[in-house]
Amino acid sequence: MQQVNLGIIGGGTVGGGVFQAIQRNGALISSRLGVRLHIARVAVRDVRKPRTIKIPSSLLTTDWAGMVNDPRVNLVVELMGGTTTARQVTLGALKLGKPVVTANKALLSAHGEELFEAAQNYGTNLYYEASVAGGIPIIKVLREGLIGNRITRLYGIVNGTCNYILTRMKLDGADFVDALAQAQRLGYAEAEPSLDIDGHDAAHKIGILASLAHGFWVNPRQIYVEGIRPISKLDVQFAGQLGYSIKLLGIVKKTEAVAGTDRKPA
Ligand SMILES: NC(=O)c1ccc[n+]([C@@H]2O[C@H](COP(=O)([O-])OP(=O)(O)OC[C@H]3O[C@@H](n4cnc5c(N)ncnc54)[C@H](OP(=O)(O)O)[C@@H]3O)[C@@H](O)[C@H]2O)c1
Repeated sequence: MQQVNLGIIGGGTVGGGVFQAIQRNGALISSRLGVRLHIARVAVRDVRKPRTIKIPSSLLTTDWAGMVNDPRVNLVVELMGGTTTARQVTLGALKLGKPVVTANKALLSAHGEELFEAAQNYGTNLYYEASVAGGIPIIKVLREGLIGNRITRLYGIVNGTCNYILTRMKLDGADFVDALAQAQRLGYAEAEPSLDIDGHDAAHKIGILASLAHGFWVNPRQIYVEGIRPISKLDVQFAGQLGYSIKLLGIVKKTEAVAGTDRKPA
């Protein structure tokens, strides 16, 4: 059976999960793909850091560039987050003709146009299903299943952290700050939560979905952004009395003149 050697960059929440999934289900995945997935290296920032999901030290490296350039690595999996080094990693791999898989919506939102152009120019591919609502999965649906459809509107709850906070506010009558603190304790929200609660993560995702629906990249600065920080317990109660729930929605709407995108609590 043909073997694909993976170079994974990032051994955190997602990288560790990918490592574990391949360890546990590698044989099943291979039997379905007809290709064996072999993890060649995992690049991290600090090889000594304690990790919830253990990765053998023999696989760990801090030298992501060496890993990307290693001729034995056939496919690069970018799971480090951020946009600066992640862009270098992704461009570096694509220029070598290596396919890249990324879960990084911020990277695609900021540099998607450049990266997809590079993939095309170097005869390779950039895969990004996990970057938006990976559990559904929506990207394959838009790219393949709905290829013959004209998409006029696309609505969705695309940020799990906000959804958790708003759900707790509704079901427990919690204040925003208490629901946020609970989300942080449970690991659903980052210590620095603004990317999620101020709506930027949802904006990154909705920009990607808009590009798939309409075939051009949306400048992230042109996306209307509104978060859930100002939502109070009272707002949630009033909405409930009227028979509504407050949700942070990602919205893409095609109008006659121009395709516009926004997200708002509705
Ligand atoms: N978490 C989610 O639920 C989720 C869901 C969908 C998509 N995503 C996306 O997946 C990506 C990763 O998220 P995450 O939650 O897994 O992040 P994370 O837990 O912070 O993990 C990031 C990993 O990247 C490594 N890293 C960072 N900078 C590096 C560098 N310069 N060189 C080498 N390694 C470096 C870190 O190394 P150390 O471990 O040594 O610090 C860490 O292992 C992000 O783009 C995120 O938006 C996340």
